[in-house]
Amino acid sequence: MRILVLGSGAREHAIITSLLAEQAGHEITAAPGNAGIAASVPVVALDPTNGDVVTQYALDNAIDLVVIGPEAPLVAGVADKVRARGIPVFGPGKAAAALEGSKTFAKRIMDEAGVPTGRAVRAGTLDEAIVAIDEYGAPYVVKADGLAAGKGVLVTPERNAAIAHAEYWLQHGSVLVEEFLAGQEVSLFLLSDGHTVLPLSPAQDYKRIFDRDEGPNTGGMGAYSPLPWLPEGFVDEVIETIALPTIRQLAAEQKPFIGLLYCGLILTSKGTRVIEFNARFGDPETQVVLPRLVTPLSGLLFAAATGGLGSLPRPEFSDEVAVTVVLASEGYPEDPIIGRPLSGLEAATDVTILHAATAASPTGFIATGGRVLSVVALGENFAAARAKAYAALDQIHLKGGQYRTDIAERVA
Ligand code: AMP
Ligand code: GLY
Repeated sequence: MRILVLGSGAREHAIITSLLAEQAGHEITAAPGNAGIAASVPVVALDPTNGDVVTQYALDNAIDLVVIGPEAPLVAGVADKVRARGIPVFGPGKAAAALEGSKTFAKRIMDEAGVPTGRAVRAGTLDEAIVAIDEYGAPYVVKADGLAAGKGVLVTPERNAAIAHAEYWLQHGSVLVEEFLAGQEVSLFLLSDGHTVLPLSPAQDYKRIFDRDEGPNTGGMGAYSPLPWLPEGFVDEVIETIALPTIRQLAAEQKPFIGLLYCGLILTSKGTRVIEFNARFGDPETQVVLPRLVTPLSGLLFAAATGGLGSLPRPEFSDEVAVTVVLASEGYPEDPIIGRPLSGLEAATDVTILHAATAASPTGFIATGGRVLSVVALGENFAAARAKAYAALDQIHLKGGQYRTDIAERVA
């Protein structure tokens, strides 16, 4: 298959690595990709959020399948433009991608579909936000309504900080004030063709920058899969009570969800609740889910894109476990310092290094953003996988580089 992958992160590097591992002779191109991706497949410097440019490229190059990695092209409607020309696309159109792009829209869909989620109030002014903040009480949960690159959510015991967060994000649109939900978090990915869903293996993400979940939220600092502590039947319950009702509600509104439904869940004492939906593969969870996938990824993505999931069995996963640890630049998430050299990558063995924000320079790779790379290790158990991942990180040098040391510790 000729496959075009849009995006430039470690998630896209993971997707491409899995497609190549099939050894099925796929011709893969990434747009725009990154320096790590460019080491294994051709990259093209086109704007992934420009639907006309992407569509023209796909037509000119006889692309069989377009896989959209990040949320920005989805919310911009790139999938609609490509699909309108008859090219299979893995990724929802703009209307269904609003499930991620607008928290208000997501709450409405969940309400209509009877999907369990936290109570929330949408506030368009600071006064409305303060009323809601005081109604729900501490700990406070305040969320930007629109896309915010992982930085829109604040969970805090401090009322002043909650109000300041609301005030800041109200400059960009409305905010949501939500009840606080306590429990373990689960990221469950489901492939959807608009009618049927097929689950991938659950993962857990570490959202905060520092060990023990201290410090601000980030895009994600590490992950592991599977989750040995999940109750029996958990995935089936999520399919029946969350994923299918959501997909059906969207279908009933002529907003078919074709792509990856990311269910961000929390296991509360009162049952499973949705904290957020995303309309794409999660990053860094993809880096631990896909290496364990035994079923060829390309067939699953193509079947989702072409309405054929109903005839497929559930994807299979290996018994090995996976751990990923993200290396971030000094100053991330507020103000990452970029341009510093990265060394020692070749000395990091027995792991896969997936690039996120790197560029090639005459003297080697340099870091070009906040989350620089993901180190992925597989093992018979979590202790073994963790040991490999952290041994590799010991070999990698980035001045001021930061990573969490407690990824998957709770299961090791
Ligand atoms: P989100 O971007 O919506 O996934 O939120 C980022 C993180 O904030 C989540 O992974 C949770 O750790 C936390 N969070 C979001 N909503 C809530 C909530 N209602 N109660 C507790 N924590 C939350
Ligand atoms: N890891 C969280 C996300 O991809 O949104």
